[in-house]
Amino acid sequence: MTRSAGRAPRVGIVGLGYMGLGTGLAFAARGLPVIGYDAKPEIRSAVARGVTPYHEKGLAALLRTQVRSGRFRVVDRLDDLVAGAEGIFLCVPTPPRPSGRIDLRPLRRATAEVARAIGAVTRYRLVVVKSTVVPGTTEAVVLPDVLRHSGRTPRTVSVASNPEFLAEGTMVHDALYPDRVVIGTLDHRAQEWLERAYRPFRAPVVSLTPSGAELVKYSANAFLALKVSFANEVARLADRLGVHVDRVMDAVGRDPRIGPRFLRAGPGFGGSCFEKDVSAFVARARELGVPLRTGAAALRANEEQMAYTLDFVRTVVGTLAGKRVALLGLAFKAGTDDVRESRAIPIAERLVAEGAEVRAHDPVAVEPFRRIWMAPGPRARGRLKLCSSLEETLTGADVAILQADWPDYLRWTRARSRRMRRPLLLDLRRALDPQAAERVGLTVIGLGAGGPVSPARIARARRAR
Ligand code: UGA
Repeated sequence: MTRSAGRAPRVGIVGLGYMGLGTGLAFAARGLPVIGYDAKPEIRSAVARGVTPYHEKGLAALLRTQVRSGRFRVVDRLDDLVAGAEGIFLCVPTPPRPSGRIDLRPLRRATAEVARAIGAVTRYRLVVVKSTVVPGTTEAVVLPDVLRHSGRTPRTVSVASNPEFLAEGTMVHDALYPDRVVIGTLDHRAQEWLERAYRPFRAPVVSLTPSGAELVKYSANAFLALKVSFANEVARLADRLGVHVDRVMDAVGRDPRIGPRFLRAGPGFGGSCFEKDVSAFVARARELGVPLRTGAAALRANEEQMAYTLDFVRTVVGTLAGKRVALLGLAFKAGTDDVRESRAIPIAERLVAEGAEVRAHDPVAVEPFRRIWMAPGPRARGRLKLCSSLEETLTGADVAILQADWPDYLRWTRARSRRMRRPLLLDLRRALDPQAAERVGLTVIGLGAGGPVSPARIARARRAR
């Protein structure tokens, strides 16, 4: 038995992004003492004051409670974190590179700093890779880096993989009530420590090697992306066949072998994970001589879904030049202010490139969208106005496009319809009930809801005021 076996495991979180913060607060909420650190001073000071830098349901309340309880604290020096925590979770980004592979530099920098700090303490330490990395990375890259920079041997320091499955928008719930905890270790000490740390969560623990755990993470995201892409392809077929995709996928998903979730067609998947992870998975599989055709197909179908979405808009709206378009929802999905890989970006780009005058709105993601939109690059920036009010966005619009299904958009009113020049909404998520909308003067045409769109319906929408 280790000397610290009677005490609650002490957790260190390096990287207080969405995922690091969610993970750390969940450990604190389960009674473990947690120390957090982020390389960015502004994030450290915000979190230390109990302020979340991100829009995430329940996160701010959880942070305040855990900071107040004293179980979650932020330190300004990594050395203090390493001195106080035995299990150090690396939660730093692994951004995509143009080749599809991931950029390991931030992770390797954090690993080196943590390892050097480990070299300065005497007790056992465990470095846990929570960042998403391709199978083989923990063993082939992180372990040698930890040993080299700490000057330790595997008798007094371990590495492990412990991937996360938190989705933005439901992160707090996902972190507090995990479906499963996946642990990839190389020795008993690391295994035992992680099992103790996760015991209060009462979740099933799946134990593998680090490569096995890393493979679980990529397989899960690739499979979820595949489900979405599959539903999107069925939506295109449904439009051709005059069938509603949700009725079809509802019946398909009732088969317990398939399951109902992640079968909602839309403009294609976005976010910082699916495209990045599946691309990296496909690239890694290729390196290993095993073509991952399903992953590549999910990505390809996702690109095609964007093209289909734009065609759908053009079919209904006709020429875009000179039209005023209200783009509703800029985040990659409702419930978050994250705009990374949001489908709103290519949609807005296309609309602007084709001469539309775009007014764009999101309840929380206007500023993050502005930062991406204004970033240097080849983007056609003219004729897009970011609005803070929905009313302003809709005023004089020839058409609205619903990209993210925020609850407020679903509470449509006659006043909103009246603000538009033509009260027509293209619902990329089929979130509004077209009949209820019709009663408040709005014609809704859903992607995958059984087009092709009848010219009579469009004409009616254009006449209605
Ligand atoms: C995803 C996974 O769901 C998490 O389990 C995982 O931990 C995370 O990636 C990650 O690797 O960090 P997230 O990207 O936050 O989480 O969001 P999702 O809810 O998975 O949505 C991804 C995209 O798929 C969004 O654009 C969403 O609109 C789209 N989607 C999802 C659909 O179009 N239809 C669906 O039925 C579900």
